Amino acid sequence: MSQPLTALRTEYVCSCFFNRQIFIKKYGLHVTYEDDNQFEKDFRQSLRFRGCSTEKQYSEVLLQVKTEVERRKSYHSTFLSNFMRNKEYRYIHPEIIQLQTRFLDQRFLDMMQENNLQDTDTLLQALAANGGHVHGPQVYSFPIFTKDFCQLLIEEISNFKQSTQERSLPNTMNFEGVSLDEMGFSCTFLTSLIKNYFQSITKLLFSNWGGGAIDSFKSFVVQYDKDKHPSLSKHFDNGEVSMSICLNSEFEAGDLQLEQVFGQEEDLDMEPVVVKQQMGHCIMHRSRQFHFAHPITSGVRTNMIVWMRSSSIRNQMCPMCGQTPDIQEVQIAGDGFTLGQDSAACSCL
Ligand SMILES: [Fe+2]
Ligand SMILES: [Zn+2]
Repeated sequence: MSQPLTALRTEYVCSCFFNRQIFIKKYGLHVTYEDDNQFEKDFRQSLRFRGCSTEKQYSEVLLQVKTEVERRKSYHSTFLSNFMRNKEYRYIHPEIIQLQTRFLDQRFLDMMQENNLQDTDTLLQALAANGGHVHGPQVYSFPIFTKDFCQLLIEEISNFKQSTQERSLPNTMNFEGVSLDEMGFSCTFLTSLIKNYFQSITKLLFSNWGGGAIDSFKSFVVQYDKDKHPSLSKHFDNGEVSMSICLNSEFEAGDLQLEQVFGQEEDLDMEPVVVKQQMGHCIMHRSRQFHFAHPITSGVRTNMIVWMRSSSIRNQMCPMCGQTPDIQEVQIAGDGFTLGQDSAACSCL
């Protein structure tokens, strides 16, 4: 059930949301835009180095960046109006609005049962006994959704994409994305999933990243397609604990590669961790661990992404600018910061 707007709490973003971490896909570069002079000084050379050599190419990049800055200025008001409009959206599979245990893989349910949420060792044993793996430091994968549920969700997402004219892009890295928050799916299904299952997992496996105090999240679906968007460039996420759940199997390759943690780039000895994408399985990792997806070589891959956030961590340092957050109030779709007496950052958790 979506909460009435009057029940929503005040939400906040760091001011860097409006002009930093803008991704120029063509040249594989994240940039910051303050004004034309700063942009030229900070990025012209890097862009040239990456093949943006003519005036025309540079003007195109500048226009793209300015357009993105304008989009971000209106992001929250657009989100709010889309969110309100989406309350009218008619699900073709209305049963998926609420989380039901039949949507969850039996091995996941067994893992949660066996673990009984007591300690990390028991959880890791239960994970290994139920189709899960530890791939590297704080990189885990395990089955979560049944194939039937994945299929229903994919059909719902494609229906939603066809039936709504106005959708916000969840980020600048994948243009085929759908925001599950804006769609309204987060307030019901995902809130239950996180509250009833994931908070107890993150508490044990990511306690050093606020895993015991997850109080908001952002969620969206991304799609990779061999011809249009085969891969995802290296980046880190705006969360504390990230989950990527693969929803289909009609593709080849597309493994997720995880590397150093942002702020610990000097950790060069760290071996990259490569994890296969498997339908219904989740990959869970520290959000600030740099990662990228290898190109798929055929088909289409669809993943649900959830960035779980803890205000106890991000209030200290904004992950996107690496500084004490410069907090600004927004109407909806904040980035999980809190201020003063506000106890929770999200309208859902
Ligand atoms: Fe990511
Ligand atoms: Zn920031």
